[in-house]
Amino acid sequence: MVQDLRSAQWYGGDDRNAYIHRAWMRRGLPADAFSGRPHIAIANTASDLTPCNAHLNEVAAAVRDGIFEAGGIPLNLPVVSLGETQVRPTAMLWRNMAAMATEEMLRANPIDAVVLLGGCDKTIPSLLMAAASVDLPAIVVPGGPMLTGTFRGAPLGCGTDVWRLSEEVRGGQLSQDDFNRSESSMIRSRGHCNTMGTASTMGLLAEALGTVIPGLAGTPAPDSRLLEGAHATGKLVVDLIEADRRPSTILTRAAFHNAIVTLAAIGGSTNAVVHLLAIAGRLGVNLTLEDFDVIGAGVPLLVNLQPAGTYLMDDLYRAGGLRAVLGQVIDLLDGAAITVTGKPLVDYLHDAPIWDPDVIRLRSEPLIPDAGIAILRGNLAPDGAIIKPAAASPHLLQHRGKAVVFNTIEDLHARIDDPDLDVDADSVLVLRGCGPRGYPGMPEVANMPLPRKLLEQGVRDMVRVCDGRMSGTAYGTVVLHVTPEAAVGGPLALVQDGDFIVLDVAARRLELEVPDDVLKQREPSTAMLDGLANPTRGWERLYVDHVQQADTGADLDFLVGGSGSAVSRESH
Ligand code: FES
Repeated sequence: MVQDLRSAQWYGGDDRNAYIHRAWMRRGLPADAFSGRPHIAIANTASDLTPCNAHLNEVAAAVRDGIFEAGGIPLNLPVVSLGETQVRPTAMLWRNMAAMATEEMLRANPIDAVVLLGGCDKTIPSLLMAAASVDLPAIVVPGGPMLTGTFRGAPLGCGTDVWRLSEEVRGGQLSQDDFNRSESSMIRSRGHCNTMGTASTMGLLAEALGTVIPGLAGTPAPDSRLLEGAHATGKLVVDLIEADRRPSTILTRAAFHNAIVTLAAIGGSTNAVVHLLAIAGRLGVNLTLEDFDVIGAGVPLLVNLQPAGTYLMDDLYRAGGLRAVLGQVIDLLDGAAITVTGKPLVDYLHDAPIWDPDVIRLRSEPLIPDAGIAILRGNLAPDGAIIKPAAASPHLLQHRGKAVVFNTIEDLHARIDDPDLDVDADSVLVLRGCGPRGYPGMPEVANMPLPRKLLEQGVRDMVRVCDGRMSGTAYGTVVLHVTPEAAVGGPLALVQDGDFIVLDVAARRLELEVPDDVLKQREPSTAMLDGLANPTRGWERLYVDHVQQADTGADLDFLVGGSGSAVSRESH
């Protein structure tokens, strides 16, 4: 009955306000649209400026058909969309803004549930953060990866191969002309990056969290089965209202446990750490950095995808997809976690065959036996830092080297190829001022380019330390998310050229070999402080005043938690 639906608070009754709400919405809707049929938003991040999501209007149409078929009223709701490759200074600056704007529009409008359409890196995290804070029934349809492009007969992994090819140009192994020619082959079709970058990771994790119909995540964007899944999602979301199945029902600690196991098994992006922490924070789920280390410990890397391996997302889908991967680690999952269907995630994993065991490895033949993200602590990162051993060089996981410090991204670009830079293969490159507050927005700059003179000598990896993030498509021995960041007084601000830094991943340590009494006498680098952004108005001002550190998900302090879906006042 209409009285039981949230939307009835707008549309029910015969008074003037209900008249206004109904009359302006009629516009061709069926006569019974306001008589007990649920109204469902399709939160749509389609945008020409988010190329990875540009196809989502077609996906929305399939969702729309499914909602109508199940008796609901579908309502397109364009929401803030973030194109990872387009927006400056970094899409991460706007993740919380997108989440806040979506949250407010879901709450403010007469809707009973929402279908979330995302794809590119920040879009699924921001949508899930928003849905968690409003806590209306919600299902995600991940937009899916693009098909594999090829260049000179070889597959191109977008993102990963950009880094690789650009380093080959700088190292003199690839001509500028060939590099330019590869550009038109990189993006073969609609869809998001086809490596195991952040978009692929978050789409798969959304399913591991239970917020996607099992088996749908990872379906390539041009594949007709994506539209079939979108249609089924539209039908299912209507049932969710009747079942009163909400994000708070699904996104329990057990669900986050399963997401962390999945993150390790797929070799997912380090960005998932800040996103999962932020989503958990919206729900009051007590998730910590250490959970990633403890739950991920001993989870094998089973997915042979770039950047840790060879293949691409198209291959993962062909080989059996996420369900086949999770079937191999079913004993590590928490069977209590349910999905949007109401059934436990583990119920979907028993009959999921592996069709290509080189792409999806058997548990007995992993790429790496222990693929969890390692959480480092020490006097250089008192509140933690992270490293992805699966993307690092094994010989550098225990390393001691002299710091070469860069105070801003501009400083790095200006000096990294200077033939006189005092650096060798054992040096530790340090980049600071790139945390949430400092840049602002915690950009993906931690995977610093290597000095040209070392590339020419054949060096392909070095230890790098930064308070920023790293692209999920990148690789290397990179210590990132150093917390507290330099801009808020973290010890990273005190490092000087020539200081020894010790990385010991097995012992989970990141240390600056400078005596405490010497460190206490040092002041934060003025060059770093001078390079910090100092926005005076708008979102950036709000952001720098309220953003929290990476170890809790870099959400704004006043956005942690939720406000539910209640609206206290009428609009007239
Ligand atoms: Fe959108 Fe990579 S740029 S997913």
